[in-house]
Amino acid sequence: MNFDLIIRNGEVITSTAHQNTDVGICGDAITEIGSDLKSDTPCKEIDASEKIVMPGGIDVHVHFNHKFCGHETPEDFFHGTRAAAHGGVTSIIDFASPSADGDMMRGITERIAQADGNACIDFGLHANIFKWNNKTPSEMEQAIELGVPTFKMFMIYAKEGWQSDDAALFEALEFSASHDARIMVHAESESVLSMLVDRFQPQSKELGAYAHAISRPNFIEAEAVMRAITWSGATGGKLYIVHTSTAEAADIIKAGRAQGIDVLAETCPQYLLLTDEIFKNPTIGHLYATCPQLKGTADCGRLWSAIADGEISIVSTDSCTFTRAQKDTWNGDFTKIPYGMPGCETLLPAIFTHGVLANKFNAHKFVKLISTNPAKLMGLYPKKGEIAVGSDADIIIIDPAKKRLVRAGEIATNCDWHPFEGLELAGFPDHVISRGEEIVSENGFIGKKGRGKFLKRKLA
Ligand code: URP
Ligand code: ZN
Ligand code: ZN
Repeated sequence: MNFDLIIRNGEVITSTAHQNTDVGICGDAITEIGSDLKSDTPCKEIDASEKIVMPGGIDVHVHFNHKFCGHETPEDFFHGTRAAAHGGVTSIIDFASPSADGDMMRGITERIAQADGNACIDFGLHANIFKWNNKTPSEMEQAIELGVPTFKMFMIYAKEGWQSDDAALFEALEFSASHDARIMVHAESESVLSMLVDRFQPQSKELGAYAHAISRPNFIEAEAVMRAITWSGATGGKLYIVHTSTAEAADIIKAGRAQGIDVLAETCPQYLLLTDEIFKNPTIGHLYATCPQLKGTADCGRLWSAIADGEISIVSTDSCTFTRAQKDTWNGDFTKIPYGMPGCETLLPAIFTHGVLANKFNAHKFVKLISTNPAKLMGLYPKKGEIAVGSDADIIIIDPAKKRLVRAGEIATNCDWHPFEGLELAGFPDHVISRGEEIVSENGFIGKKGRGKFLKRKLA
């Protein structure tokens, strides 16, 4: 047998099994798994003794080259995917908005063109739906053909023109029931939220960034999640709640699933590790403004339990990076903060450290949350999300004993602040292999800009 690369003697961990063994790679795929693999021709080897070998992370919710509030994220497809690779993420899924003239397919092809030649790892897209009309179902069919079988709708962002009303959501879910596509929903309650935002805006100077938190009480998310799940139950549509941030939403999702409604959910590390206390900090609080915003300690605890119990299937990041200077343009008005924070690079380390090493769940569950479930639920399995013969050789090697302090200036993320600044995290990979090519070694990033390919996803 010929191999191009053998990963020797690692503890190979998948979502269901673990064994101490070698992994043989030829071209871009895994071609053999077993002890003492030998190549007939000279090949590269990586010694993974005492290390964990697992499938690369898949971050299904990122925003690169994202424009909001008159700013564009400094993490474009190159910087964002390079940072992701540093953290052990080998595939990302971003979003394509409709083109300027409202066309979904043109929006998707333009977005692919923006990522092509820039992305360092493989990338897929979800299609945003802003204005439902009678053309939308046929556009969705074309998107599915092109490998975009998931559609995102926003229950808020009316001012931006992104909001879908209940009728649109209902029709999209009907489409999903008949076509097996999935509707991803940003669930917050627009009209009560905008009334509360208007109510607190005059007190912006006194309340500072904390006004962002108090204008969005937990019921803002809970009510919208409940409504979306009601429409999912009524239509039989497949629903996916993005960036779940509250205990109440987790309870409602659990109840919906118990009734047999097809609702899946994700959460993100910021909702597990950070709380809204940070908004009281007058110098850095505003940096943490994201949408939905960080919540309380009880919410963090409930979200961890929802992960452990399988009510939340995926941890993604909602990476949406804005620099200090961009955030500082709020000038004391909480309604003007560009929402979002960096995250891709620290997804795996945050969940490995605070999930596995904190004994909240085992390493199989970790692999499931950040790789196998995203691959299965987003139509990428078994090419991605698995260590098996025939799967893409997207593999990361982690030394579980190695810890690293997060410092904005020292990690790869293209931003001058980081929400996990000062946290000591394990789980940064020593080696990252993407389709058989080592792109991160112990010396840092060695991949090439633009090597990432568009992922044509299947219906899941
Ligand atoms: O604040 C965030 N997360 N901005 C990105 C858009 C969204 O709502 O996911
Ligand atoms: Zn959102
Ligand atoms: Zn988002």
